[in-house]
This record gives sequence, structure tokens and C-alpha cells, in this order.
Amino acid sequence: MLSRTAQIRLMSSHPEVYDPCDDSFALVDALLADRANLVEHHPSICMEVGCGSGYVITSLVLMLGEDSTGCHFIATDINPHAVGVTRKTMEAHGCHAELVTTDIASGLEMRLAGSVDVMVVNPPYVPTPEYEVGQFGIASAWAGGENGRSVIDKILPVADKLLSDKGWLYLVTLTANNPSEICLQMRKKGYASRIVLQRSTEEESLHIIKFWRDLDTQLEPPIPTITPNGSSGGNGFLGGGRNY
Ligand SMILES: C[S@@+](CC[C@H](N)C(=O)[O-])C[C@H]1O[C@@H](n2cnc3c(N)ncnc32)[C@H](O)[C@@H]1O
Repeated sequence: MLSRTAQIRLMSSHPEVYDPCDDSFALVDALLADRANLVEHHPSICMEVGCGSGYVITSLVLMLGEDSTGCHFIATDINPHAVGVTRKTMEAHGCHAELVTTDIASGLEMRLAGSVDVMVVNPPYVPTPEYEVGQFGIASAWAGGENGRSVIDKILPVADKLLSDKGWLYLVTLTANNPSEICLQMRKKGYASRIVLQRSTEEESLHIIKFWRDLDTQLEPPIPTITPNGSSGGNGFLGGGRNY
């Protein structure tokens, strides 16, 4: 049977590019767990922001496979080495995506506005001094500034602009990023959310959050919290009449 995720032995690498790690695996596991819904979703455009070595976008292409015929895949990274490594990784897997070196989606917004059906993001989320954010090379892979939110907070409005009416966003966050507050911020823009995967490693507690537009969401009562130990209060659903 063909593999549904990228193979580590086929991955390219570069000293200044983020190698697949616990967060990358958690995101791909969350996508795999949601694969049936993704196939049924019939996305026309799937996009990754911050593709690094290409593990996630390659896995997404592979897991949708023939079910994604006609779907256009796009991946961006601010680090040109990452785009080069992703290209090689994809070629080694016999996959293809449009790869763009850019800051989030700069230069693509006009073309993609309101048309991305699936967006996946494993952002730089590690709390660091603000001056470390946006450095060239490997530092741009993890430096997230205060609370690890600097890049995340720039990505969210771009995601809102690019996502289609039926668009889904899968975002990796850490407890330190205050995921409840991220969900609340997105809720004000009309998105419901759900933690689709929570995984604690020795170093961090990761949450993969799925967002989707839901008109009822802005009208709903307050949301559950995510506690410092990483567990979610309530049922992990933040608004929304429908559960994706
Ligand atoms: C944590 S790594 C994730 C890499 C890969 N997606 C994975 O899961 O293995 C974050 C990636 O985001 C990229 N990045 C950081 N800031 C960015 C920005 N403003 N626009 C686009 N990509 C950015 C980094 O270069 C890095 O490749």
C-alpha cells in the first residue's frame, strides 16, 4: 500500500531548515485522523504556511492522493532554503506543489483571497525575545517573540482573508501561546474551533486546533479554557453549531 505520509528517508535537509519534529508529526497525525473529512471536503486549494522541510505539505498531498484530483497545493516559507528543501522532498515523493518564498502569503493575497479550502500551519511558536523573530535562517523556524505569538498573530488575519467560506485552518500551538485566547480572537471573526489533537512531550504541550467558519459562533456564550497543564476544560469545542 502507498504511504499516506512523507517518508523520513526521502526527506531532504539543510542546516538552516527545520527538520520534522514532534510538532510536525502531531500536525500530520491530526490531519490523518481527519482524513475522511478532508476527502469529503473536496478542497480546491490546500495551502501550508511555513513549509520548512516539506514534511507536512508532502504528507497532505500523499494522504489526499487520488481523492485530491484537481486540487492545487501551495506552500510558502520565508526561508528560501526551506523552499528549496521542500521542492526536493516533494520530488523524492513524486509530489508537486506551488512553492513560494515569501512572508506568510505576501504577494499571493489578491489571487488567493477567499479561495483556500484547507490551510495548515506549524508556526514559530516558542516564546523568545522579540528581536529574535524574523531572523533569517533556522532561527525563523521557532522564534515566536512574546508568548510565542508574534508570528501567529500575523498569520491569523491572513488566514481569515484567504480562507474560503468552507475553509478549514489547522494550527499548531503551545500552551504558552494561550490557545484559548487564540480561539476567542478567531471566534470574534466568526470561527468555531476544536482541539483535534493534544500531545505532551518532555518539552512542551502541543495543541492542534482546527478552525472553521460558523455564523452562529459570534453569538454563542463564553468558551472553555485550556489549563496550564494543557488539558481543555469543557469539551474542547469553542462555539459552532456544527462539529467538523
Ligand atoms: C516550526 S517550523 C515548521 C516547519 C514545517 N512546517 C514542519 O512542520 O516541520 C516553522 C516554519 O515557518 C517558517 N516561517 C517563519 N516565519 C515565517 C513567515 N513570516 N512566513 C512564512 N514562513 C515563516 C520557518 O522558516 C519554518 O520553516
